[in-house]
Amino acid sequence: MALFAIIPAAGSGTRLSKKQPKQYAKLAGKPMLWHAVRAVCMPPVETVFVVLAPDDKAFARQDWKAFKGKLEPLYCGGKTRRDSVYNGLVAAMSAVDPDDWILVHDAARPCLPKKDLQKLIREARADKVGAILAQPVAETVKRSAEGLAGTQRIAASEDRARLWLAQTPQMFRAGLLAQALRAARGAVTDEAGAVEQLGLKPRLVGGSRENLKVTWPEDLAIAEAILKSRSARERRA
Ligand code: CTP
Ligand code: MG
Repeated sequence: MALFAIIPAAGSGTRLSKKQPKQYAKLAGKPMLWHAVRAVCMPPVETVFVVLAPDDKAFARQDWKAFKGKLEPLYCGGKTRRDSVYNGLVAAMSAVDPDDWILVHDAARPCLPKKDLQKLIREARADKVGAILAQPVAETVKRSAEGLAGTQRIAASEDRARLWLAQTPQMFRAGLLAQALRAARGAVTDEAGAVEQLGLKPRLVGGSRENLKVTWPEDLAIAEAILKSRSARERRA
């Protein structure tokens, strides 16, 4: 069974900056999307489909030579992340079999370590449903309630023992993923959420903190430090 990647990159990144979509923010000299593509563009992944906003002008201006023949832009992004992934999957379906595996990876996670990707692929392939990278919650978790004059106050402490932070990539068979995303109701913010709505239980694969999601401006410096120290290590090796 073949393996393909889909990278939704049709968001606007409003929490990072109002100026440009965050997938094109520069990290260590390259757009964030370039690093996200590089993280998944390796065997056994055959093709990386990148889902872009229909009016995206920036993609065509970047240098994608490093991924020649393996990268396929699809200008069919939608209003939500779910819509973008679903539209991309439908557009990719002519090249993909329902039994093939799909890795969905956020453009906003440029630092995915190779060993995490390999572990996810290994464990997902051994699973009937599929799997996602995730991390057990380390911090104490509070639920908030609004207090006087709009202040936020603690309403409750949550038991973190069985809480995980979902990351990407998330890996499912193409047919199941299409069915789940088509039927998804409410605010599904990842593929696993849609698959769970079908009553299935995707596997959790322990990932690492390096695979952070770049969301707020301060995340840029952390992501850049991770990428730079990794490439310095690779140069020394
Ligand atoms: N995404 C997408 N289509 C959308 C919304 C999001 O393809 N309509 C993509 C983003 O480009 C990103 C990933 O989904 O790669 C994760 O979304 P998020 O980190 O929330 O990015 P944005 O929606 O762009 O950022 P924000 O929520 O801060 O506006
Ligand atoms: Mg968003």
